[in-house]
Order: sequence, then structure tokens, then C-alpha cells
Amino acid sequence: MDFVGSHILSVQQFERADIDRIFTVADMMEPFARRQRVTKVLDGAILGNMFFEPSTRTRVSFGCAFNLLGGEVRETTGIQNSALAKGESLYDTARVLSGYSDIIVMRHPESFSVAEFASASRVPVLNGGDGANEHPSQALLDLYTIRKEVKAAGKGIDNLRIAMIGDLKNGRTVHSLCKLLSLYKNLSITMVAPEELQMQEDVVEMLRTAGHHVYITDKLEESISRVDIAYSTRIQEERFASKEEADRYRGRFRLNQSIYTQYCEPNTVIMHPLPRDSRMDANELDNDLNENPNLAIFRQADNGVNVRMALFAMILDVVDQVEQYARPVNWYTKR
Ligand code: NCD
Repeated sequence: MDFVGSHILSVQQFERADIDRIFTVADMMEPFARRQRVTKVLDGAILGNMFFEPSTRTRVSFGCAFNLLGGEVRETTGIQNSALAKGESLYDTARVLSGYSDIIVMRHPESFSVAEFASASRVPVLNGGDGANEHPSQALLDLYTIRKEVKAAGKGIDNLRIAMIGDLKNGRTVHSLCKLLSLYKNLSITMVAPEELQMQEDVVEMLRTAGHHVYITDKLEESISRVDIAYSTRIQEERFASKEEADRYRGRFRLNQSIYTQYCEPNTVIMHPLPRDSRMDANELDNDLNENPNLAIFRQADNGVNVRMALFAMILDVVDQVEQYARPVNWYTKR
């Protein structure tokens, strides 16, 4: 695809070669993302960071990524703090905000709302998560992390064995990740969820059509016993009709160090898009995994900066100028 000036709304826009290009640029961003160098290539540019749903990582890392390229960030958080609460349409909001920004990232609780917003925007829009539908930048950083983590074992993405665990029905990160994985070859993907929260049929079908082996189960231990990646997710409480309904599923699939030692192969990488729900009744990834070298969750979050820098640089067409405006940082850094 041609990235310059494009919206990023769904991972279905990408072909495998596009992913390779994003990852090459993301690798190039490493010294900037780790704060060894800075570049001013986007000096004067403005990102409109519009988050109409709770967010920590996605909002801050998109903002940091833009800052690290030298640009400025303007934010709106919460529908209640915006004119959407006064009945303004997404169309009007998009027309207005796109007059104030060079690029926009938007998160919104309704599926396909970001696409609706983008169709009225005069500048490129990146989907920061639209309801239970998609989370393209998260899927890219997840795949980027998978690629990095398995490299040491001499593996690539093709032929991997992956378990996806938790709320696969409502989790937009796993929807986008599965769609991306359908571009690769010969994967074994085990969907571990209560029947009511299983992965939607069209995504399973897409993976099977791409030639992957997909297993559906609600048993955690046997599913994680022969995988390269165990990708855990949170029960998406905000998508349920009531907290009580979500409570029925919370804590169903807990991974801790003793389960890991007993069932997993020694190199199984543990991932999670975060936030992990660390409350007692959920605790999907126990704190006792924190010292496990295969717990990749914080490396995964770090990688979000590289990948988001890559997307901005490619869409705003400055990849070739990053170096020209770069210099080492002046301050002490230890990372
Ligand atoms: C995810 C999301 O918002 O979909 N978080 C994130 O962006 N890293 C996952 C979640 O909230 O469970």
C-alpha cells in the first residue's frame, strides 16, 4: 500500500510486504525510541490525539512517538470533555479537528466510528481502537514483538504455535492480530476462551482459509503446553451489559509461575496487550511472573513507540529525512 497520506483503520489494509516495511522503519527508530538520539524531522507538525475511551499506553506512546520525531501533541480525552457530549456529530468533529492537526489518532467506544470520522477528516487518521472491532497499531506492535522475541530461537513468524487466551470475543487486539497473522504461513493458533467469549467465526474462518490450524478450547493448561507464544487478554468488562456478567468470566484463565513451570516449554514467550487486570478476582498474569525472562509484556509496550514512530514517519513521508534532523541526546540516559 502507499502509506503517504493514508488512514490506518484496519490491519486488512496491509499485505505482508507492507508489514516488512513498517518493521524495517520501526527497527530504524530504535535509538530514538530508547532516547539515545532525538530528531526534529516533524518540527512544527501537530498530532491531534483524540481518546474517547480510557487509555494509558496507546495514548501516551502515540504522543511520545510524535514528540520523539519533533512534533507537538494536542489531546482530547473523554467524550464528556468534548463537544460530542453536546450532540456534535463525528462528521463535524472530524471537519473541525482536522483543521487543527496534521494527523489524528482516535479511540472511540463504537465499532467503525473511527472509519466514519476518517471519512470526514482532511488529514490522515489512525485507529487507536474502535470498540470491540480493531486495534491496528497494537497488532503491529504485537507482531513486531513476536518477531523479535522468537528470533533468538532462530524462528520467524511462519510456523509458530500461538495460544490466545481470555476474552477473544470482545478483545479488539486479538481480532486485529489474528487478521494480521492470516498473512503468514502454517501457524497453529489455539483460541482459549469460555464458549461465550470465543473468537468470532469470520476471524477463525479467515485463519483457516489462509491454511492455519485453529483449535478452539476452554482448557488453559493443555493449550499452553506446546506453544511459542502465550498471548493473554483481559475480560473486556466495559463491553458487557453489567459488571456482574463480566465477573462470571474474570479469573477463569490465570497464568502464574508454577503453572508456567509445570506446563510450558522453557522458552514460551508470555504476552499481553496490557492493562493486565491485577485485581485479586482476575489476576490473569500473576506478579510472580515478573522475574520470568520470557515475560515480554513490558518489552511489548516499549515496542509500541518504535512502531508508532514508524507509522507517523511513513504516513507523513519523512522516513528519508529522519537522519538529517537527528542528533544524540544531551541528557543522561540509562535504559
Ligand atoms: C487494549 C485495548 O485498549 O484494546 N489495551 C491497549 O491498547 N494496550 C487491551 C485492553 O484494554 O484490554
